[in-house]
Amino acid sequence: MIKKKITAWSAGCSTGEEPYTLSLVLHNYFKDMSGWDIKILASDINTEALENARKGIYSYQEVKNIPYNYLKTYFKMGTGSNQGLFKVKEVLQRPVEFKKINLASLGQQSLPGPFSIIFCRNVFIYFDHQLRAKVLRQFYQNLMPGGLLFVGHSESVDTSNQSLGKWRMVKHTIYEKLEQ
Ligand SMILES: C[S@@+](CC[C@H](N)C(=O)[O-])C[C@H]1O[C@@H](n2cnc3c(N)ncnc32)[C@H](O)[C@@H]1O
Repeated sequence: MIKKKITAWSAGCSTGEEPYTLSLVLHNYFKDMSGWDIKILASDINTEALENARKGIYSYQEVKNIPYNYLKTYFKMGTGSNQGLFKVKEVLQRPVEFKKINLASLGQQSLPGPFSIIFCRNVFIYFDHQLRAKVLRQFYQNLMPGGLLFVGHSESVDTSNQSLGKWRMVKHTIYEKLEQ
């Protein structure tokens, strides 16, 4: 059977909440995932954050806003000395590949794109104007036409600046790549 493909990238994923949330939402939406080939690249520059992300273990404080039925379905609850800890189940970890990537040196890395979705939330705030433009151009090149870029609430893409690619604002924080 030819599988339909969704390739997503969480760029600046920190300790993994974003890629696992995406994995959960997609798994919950497509249920058994048959017929779908779903891959999520999760990258960050911070090695320690990536190590924690790979483990996928969170405290009660970190998971307390996840609806209980999702928590029950997608997390193993710790017992004994692990009481109060929640581990992401294998079903959510399987589609996610964690990788150390410095967004400032994109172009030197091979990426498993083109991507349908790129999340880069609360990362541009660390970059100057020039680096933001450089990274946006790379995202544009690595998204498929019609693909979506999600940024943070305090971030935006200047859609009038064609040197950044042709973007359409779908809604606040979501931008669509219009063409190659
Ligand atoms: C505030 S966190 C955002 C995490 C997540 N995207 C979110 O919104 O919850 C910013 C992340 O960007 C990462 N970061 C900063 N500069 C980076 C760079 N040049 N390349 C890759 N990641 C970077 C940091 O290590 C950190 O994990």
